[in-house]
Amino acid sequence: MHDRISVIVERTTGAPVLSTTARPEGEPIVMAHPSDPVAAQHTVLILLGSGRHPSHSSALAEAIGEAFEQIGQWRVTAYGEAQAPVADPRYHADPRRHPDPGVRELVALADAADALVWVSPVYHNSYSSHIKTLLDHLANAQVERKVVGLASHGGHRGSQAVDALRIVARGFNAIASPTNVCTRGDDYADLPGGGYRLTSDEIHGRIRRFAAEIDAMTHALAAFRRRD
Ligand SMILES: Cc1cc2nc3c(=O)[nH]c(=O)nc-3n(C[C@H](O)[C@H](O)[C@H](O)COP(=O)(O)O)c2cc1C
Repeated sequence: MHDRISVIVERTTGAPVLSTTARPEGEPIVMAHPSDPVAAQHTVLILLGSGRHPSHSSALAEAIGEAFEQIGQWRVTAYGEAQAPVADPRYHADPRRHPDPGVRELVALADAADALVWVSPVYHNSYSSHIKTLLDHLANAQVERKVVGLASHGGHRGSQAVDALRIVARGFNAIASPTNVCTRGDDYADLPGGGYRLTSDEIHGRIRRFAAEIDAMTHALAAFRRRD
């Protein structure tokens, strides 16, 4: 039995915003930090698309979650499942009916989100199959008219993954925010027990702009989303 890599965290304050946990196959996904629904006005769902654990992408996702917390009024949720089942088109019309509880959890988190952030490593000049699998479990109903922020790790801060994901966001009738966050290896420090921490001040600054943009765009879109 191999470990599956799952990430699903909700929090408002306190513990690290996003933690990755390896879990034996078949065990339920961990909801680590119950949220405080009163404090939060908006929810952002971070989808993590790395096949590795630990990964640069999860460190990037953690830094992004922290930036939303610093804005305030944002509830941060995150989901990453490297061994998620391949998408089954029978459930595309209503992904909430999927038999896999992990997929249903993903769909419920996406339904509840006001904005999403997609984080992918660069794989073969594009995004990873892992992020695509997560996205293929969603239908337009979960994402349309929401703001999507795009972030990636790989190469020399190459934009191949986020550029390709921008087209995917268009397919969902979502609106991708203008600022991408793309990182490379030396934007991170290695952690003693394994794993990475984003250390680049330049990238942290960019993430603050990225989160502020998504915040502003989400507020601007609120009336538009209420229309139907
Ligand atoms: C299947 C595969 C394809 C890759 N293709 C590219 C690529 O086209 N360009 C690149 O710069 N790096 C490529 N890489 C390297 C990844 O970007 C690199 O492993 C990165 O650290 C992954 O991020 P992570 O730590 O978040 O998993 C590839 C890696 C894999 C596994």
